[in-house]
Amino acid sequence: MSQINNDMHLLLTGASGQLGQCLADELKTQGIAHTLLSRQDADINDTVVLEKIVADKGVTAIINAAAYTAVDKAESEPELAKRINEDGPAALAKLCSRFDIPLLHVSTDYVFDGNSQTPYVETDQTNPSGVYGHTKLNGEIAVQRHCSKHIILRTAWVFSEYGNNFLKTMLRLAKECDTLGVVADQFGCPTYAGDIAKALISIAQQIHAAEQDKSGAQAPYGVYHYAGDEAVSWHGFAAAIFEEAHRIGALARMPILNAIATDAYPTAVKRPAYSVLNMTKIADEFGVNASEWRLVQKDVIARYL
Ligand SMILES: NC(=O)c1ccc[n+]([C@@H]2O[C@H](COP(=O)([O-])OP(=O)(O)OC[C@H]3O[C@@H](n4cnc5c(N)ncnc54)[C@H](OP(=O)(O)O)[C@@H]3O)[C@@H](O)[C@H]2O)c1
Repeated sequence: MSQINNDMHLLLTGASGQLGQCLADELKTQGIAHTLLSRQDADINDTVVLEKIVADKGVTAIINAAAYTAVDKAESEPELAKRINEDGPAALAKLCSRFDIPLLHVSTDYVFDGNSQTPYVETDQTNPSGVYGHTKLNGEIAVQRHCSKHIILRTAWVFSEYGNNFLKTMLRLAKECDTLGVVADQFGCPTYAGDIAKALISIAQQIHAAEQDKSGAQAPYGVYHYAGDEAVSWHGFAAAIFEEAHRIGALARMPILNAIATDAYPTAVKRPAYSVLNMTKIADEFGVNASEWRLVQKDVIARYL
C-alpha cells in the first residue's frame, strides 16, 4: 500500500507514557500533523472534551497509547484497571465510529496464557490470567464491537529510554548489586517502543491512503501482532543489556547473573511462560518488520546512561 500524508491529523492519547513519548517523538520527526493528549490534558473517558478536539482539529485517526499497565497492582485496583483498559477504549471506539475515523489501539501478549510452544498468531485462542490481561482483552473486544475501522496492535516486553521498563531496571540494579537472579524460564521478544511507534504511524498512513482511495480498496483493519525479532528469556535479555552496557564503558563491572525459575520469583499475577508473537500478518499487510531489539538496545542504553 502506498504511503501519503495528505491531510492526516493524528490524535494521540497516553502521550506521556513510555510508548506515547516515542510516538510523540516520531510524529514530530516525520512532520505529521498531530495533537498530543496526556492524562492531565484529558481522560480517555471524557468524551465531551475528546469530541470537541476531534471536531476542532479535524482529526483523521486516533492512536490510543493510554492504559493501566501496573500488572500486579491491578489485582487490588480492578475497577480502575477496567475504567482505563475497557471503558476508555470503548469510549474512544464509539467516538471514532461517530466521526467515521479509524482507531489504532495498543494491546498485549498478556491476552494469551503462554502455554503455546509456537509463536502466537492473531486468531489463536485468548486466555488471560489476572485483572490486567482480562481488562486488556475486554478492551480489544469493545474496540472491535464499537468501531469497525480498528487496528488492534498486540505487543510485548516493551523497552525504551522512557518510563519504567526491564532494561532501565536492570541497568539500575547492575550498579547496586553484585549478584542478580533473573527468571530464565519465561520467553518473549523484547520490543523497542520507538519501533512500535514507527509501525503504528506507518499503518496510520497506509490506512489513511486506503480511506482516500476512491477505487474502493479496503484498508485491512483488524488485529495485528508486533514485537522483537528474536525470542529470549528475561535472563538472556538481562545478559545482553549488561554486556552492551559494559562494552560501551557505562558499566564498570558486570554483576554475576544467576538463572532462576519463575517459582523463585513469585508475583501477584502469573506471567505467560511463552509470549512469542508471530508477525507474518503485519509484514504481509503493511510491510512492517519486527523490532531488531539487539541492535536498537545499544542506542537506548547509550542514550539512557
Ligand atoms: N510496557 C510493556 O511491557 C507492554 C507490553 C505489552 C503491551 N503493552 C501495551 O502498550 C501500551 C503502552 O504501554 P506503556 O508501556 O507506554 O504504558 P505506560 O508507560 O504506563 O503509559 C500509559 C499512559 O496512559 C496514561 N493513562 C492512564 N490512564 C489514563 C486515562 N484514564 N486517560 C488518559 N491517559 C491515561 C498514563 O498516564 P499517567 O502517566 O498519568 O498514569 C500513562 O502516561 C499499553 O496499551 C500497554 O498495555 C505494554
